[in-house]
Amino acid sequence: MQSNTIPSSSAAWREYFESNAHSASAIPWERGADLDRQARAAVARSIQEFQRGESSEGKHLYHYAEHYANATGDHDYLYALRLFIAEEHRHARDLARFLRLNGIPLITRTVADSVFRKLRNLFRSLEVSIAVLVTAEIFAQVYYAALQHATASTVLQRLCGRILEDEERHVQFQTWQLSRMRARRPGMARVLARWLQRILFMGTCLVVWSGHRRALRAGGHTFTSFWDAAWSQFRLAFPSSSGRAAGAMVRGGTHEKQLAAGTVSRGEWI
Ligand SMILES: [Fe+2]
Ligand SMILES: [Fe+2]
Repeated sequence: MQSNTIPSSSAAWREYFESNAHSASAIPWERGADLDRQARAAVARSIQEFQRGESSEGKHLYHYAEHYANATGDHDYLYALRLFIAEEHRHARDLARFLRLNGIPLITRTVADSVFRKLRNLFRSLEVSIAVLVTAEIFAQVYYAALQHATASTVLQRLCGRILEDEERHVQFQTWQLSRMRARRPGMARVLARWLQRILFMGTCLVVWSGHRRALRAGGHTFTSFWDAAWSQFRLAFPSSSGRAAGAMVRGGTHEKQLAAGTVSRGEWI
C-alpha cells in the first residue's frame, strides 16, 4: 500500500518510482480474450492509439533532463525521470498484451501522437516538454477512468485501474517539476505560461474527444461531461496560483520545506 503523501524532493520521487516498480497489482491475464465484439468495435482503435502514445521512448525528454541535472546537480531527478519513463513503457507493454490477447494489431503511427511529439520538442526545453507531457497525462487520467467502464472485460478494467494509480502520480511528478522551474521565472512569464498551458489543454480536449469519442461514450461520457471531467483534473493538477509569493519563497530556499510541511500545495508554484 502506497503512502498518500506526495513526494517533495527528487530523492523522494526516485524512492517512490523504485518502490512502485515492485508493487504492481496483478492483472488477471489468465482470463484470456474477454472483449466482446461490440466492445471491441467501440474501443479497439482508441486503445491502439493510447498504446502507441505510451510507448514513446522519451529520448528527447531524457536528454533535456540530463542538461538540467548537470546544471543543477540534481541527479536524483534524472534517475526518477528514467524510472517514470520505464513506468510508461510498462503501460505500453500491458496495453499491447491486452490488444494481442484480443487479436487486435498494434499500430506504429498516429497523427495525434506525431503532433504531440513535435510539440514536446518544439523549443528543445525541459519545461516545454514537460508542459506538453503533463497535458497528455491529465487526459490519460480522464481517458482510462472512462475506459475502465466502457466494456465488461475484467482484464481491461483491472489494467485501467492499475494505470490510473500510476497516472495520478505522473501528473503530480510533472507538475512538481514544472513548479520548481516556473517559480524562478518573473511573474509575467508565469502568467503567460499558465495561459499557454490552458490554451494547449483546451485544444487537446477537442482533439481527444474527436479521436476517442466512441470509447469515451462507451465509458459513459457526453462531450460536456468529458469537458467537465478534463477541466476538473486540470484544476487538481494546477490549483490557484500565487506566483509572487512562490518566487519569494523559492529565492529564500524554503520551497522544499514548505512543500514537505504541507503548508503550500504544488499548484501554488505554477
Ligand atoms: Fe501511462
Ligand atoms: Fe503517465
